[in-house]
Amino acid sequence: MTLPRIPRIAYGGDYNPEQWPAEVWDEDHEAFDLARIDTLTIGVFVWALTQPDEHTYDLTVLEQALDRAHAEGRRVCLATGTGAVPPWLAHEYPEVCRVDFEGRRHVYGQRHNACHSSPAYRRLATALAGRVAERFADHPAVVAWHVNNEYGGYDGGCWCDLCAGEFRAWLRERYGDLDRLNEAWNTLFWSHRFTAWEQIVPPNKLSEHWRGPNHTAFQGITLDYLRFTSENMLRTFREEKEAIRAHSDLPVTTNFMGMFRPLDYHRWSEHLDFASWDNYPPDGRPASRMALTHALMRGLKGGQPFWLMEQTPTVTASRDVNPVKRPGFMGLWSWQAVAHGADAVLFFQMRQSRGASEKYHGAVLNHAGRTDTRSFQEVARLGAELEGLGDRTLGARTPANVALLFDWDSWWAVEISDGPNRHLSYQRTMIEHHRSLWEAGAQIDVVPVTADLTSYDVVVAPLLHMIKGDLAERLAAVAERGGTVVTGVLSGRVDEDDNAFLTDVPGPLAELLGVRVDETDAQAPGVVNPVRLGGTGPRGAGGTSAVDVSAGHGGADGALVSEASLVFDLVLPRGAEVVGTYGADFYAGTPAVTRNPYGAGEAWYVGTNLDQAGLDWVLRRVLDRHGLVGPFADVPGLEHAVREVDGRRHEFLLHHGDEAVEVGAHVAGTDLLTGRPVSQGQSLRLEPTDVLVLEVS
Ligand code: GLA
Ligand code: ZN
Repeated sequence: MTLPRIPRIAYGGDYNPEQWPAEVWDEDHEAFDLARIDTLTIGVFVWALTQPDEHTYDLTVLEQALDRAHAEGRRVCLATGTGAVPPWLAHEYPEVCRVDFEGRRHVYGQRHNACHSSPAYRRLATALAGRVAERFADHPAVVAWHVNNEYGGYDGGCWCDLCAGEFRAWLRERYGDLDRLNEAWNTLFWSHRFTAWEQIVPPNKLSEHWRGPNHTAFQGITLDYLRFTSENMLRTFREEKEAIRAHSDLPVTTNFMGMFRPLDYHRWSEHLDFASWDNYPPDGRPASRMALTHALMRGLKGGQPFWLMEQTPTVTASRDVNPVKRPGFMGLWSWQAVAHGADAVLFFQMRQSRGASEKYHGAVLNHAGRTDTRSFQEVARLGAELEGLGDRTLGARTPANVALLFDWDSWWAVEISDGPNRHLSYQRTMIEHHRSLWEAGAQIDVVPVTADLTSYDVVVAPLLHMIKGDLAERLAAVAERGGTVVTGVLSGRVDEDDNAFLTDVPGPLAELLGVRVDETDAQAPGVVNPVRLGGTGPRGAGGTSAVDVSAGHGGADGALVSEASLVFDLVLPRGAEVVGTYGADFYAGTPAVTRNPYGAGEAWYVGTNLDQAGLDWVLRRVLDRHGLVGPFADVPGLEHAVREVDGRRHEFLLHHGDEAVEVGAHVAGTDLLTGRPVSQGQSLRLEPTDVLVLEVS
């Protein structure tokens, strides 16, 4: 069982009828009809009602909500409700309350706050999941199971004694004996040699850490604690899933949070039937970042469609400042999710909370329950559009030729490292590399380092700090058969234990890249070293030709000066051609960016943190080599995304820009949103937030 069986893109979202009297349910369902809402996520936070004490279960509230949804012709994604523990549970079993990074035992409060090593929590959460599944497995409204909610959502972990015990057991399993552990953690350093498992304590503010979670004296133990924490939560997910499986074969998911550092979603993904995630972009201009995150979530299940489990229809409440979504943007961003692989568009939530922390969080229905608001009208419009689309895109895949490698181990390792520069952010680096590829109009998969790379022409792997398994060989194979590999600074540095390779940098990637790095300089944010890219003849190095700084997106011969910052590898070419050189400091005139011919392909090394224009310059050349620059690459704000299913091809045009654009249709087809035929070359005008879904003929 993989994706839920649905007749069209699921539309609706989190619905909490238990918080409202019966008359309100009537009003809700009338409004849902107006907006063509067909799917409700029910029961996410009802534990205190479904189990009022340890020995009493009362699922009436779920039964009533499910029956009503079914009577109204709606489908339900049914939650187990274990994301927020009821007060009685914390009161009777204080172990359920987590111990934070500072070592403080919490008392009852909030949500996402359980210790996942607590036997009481595990036993009772699993039992509840089993009860809910047993009771509703055959309920005709249920199409999917939603386990827990946003695992790790509080601040990602617990450092209690129970967790210490589980951590030791996890370490025994991983390393077998202490000698191997001592070697992995390099414990001869600072006299840390462990001679009994009991001596090992969770790394937190009271033990290995200073300042905060990224400042640790022993990267090995901290890295393992991050891995352990992710797997420890995965264990409770799997326990709940098993309890569901005893009664139901329907697909199971849990809602992820995109680029969420505490959990290694790649290690979770095989245990989910389908991926789902909650999209709350942190800024007002998030189109490329959202495209990246959708692709990351799509990559969790090998390209299988995912569900957009939550987004706000209007406004969030949890940020310091919570702007409303401007007219048209909710629809645009929803279509963007579909364009990148969503088979569901769901909101948090259906009716606005009357109190507590989400009182000002937007909802499909506001406090007055109005359907004549701007936001409800936009929700209803999107509902009509999705209904019109029917099943055309369900199950569709993205035909991508470009892979961006994303790896939680490298993310953790590079950011908990002492040196070379604390200001380098894994997430920002990913966002910037993706942005250049996205702006060039490439179709991009974001995949784990274990993914099969054989179908990609281009593999981009920024901050590939840790090299595990046969990754180096698989990257070399990409270039060998004619593809292009791009990586760079701080890549190829450490093995799976986070210990340095005892060879030249970049370790196992050195031959592929044709470079050696002996030193990496670092500078404070704001310090710029201008890197001259291109414009110096075929071999690049040391030339004096004039640099056209406006040539960021220029032709293959255009040169550019990129403002590089933070980290600067002193790159010694060992076969590679020099493409870019530093302009300042004692290494002025020496290589910063190189390209190494390898097999039938090539491998680029970007030895510094280029600015966006510099990355655009490099990655545009890489895409050009394979003819992968998209048809609307230079149209500001216009995104082009492709999905294919059953021999049908859908080309999405999504206009994120501020100004209307006019382009020639690059293919002939039918716009599925208007039914309008489009001929090739026909002029298309897109106003800001306009969307076209062309089914290619
Ligand atoms: C998360 C949670 C929801 C709700 C929303 C509000 O995604 O899963 O329960 O709190 O945030 O934005
Ligand atoms: Zn704990």
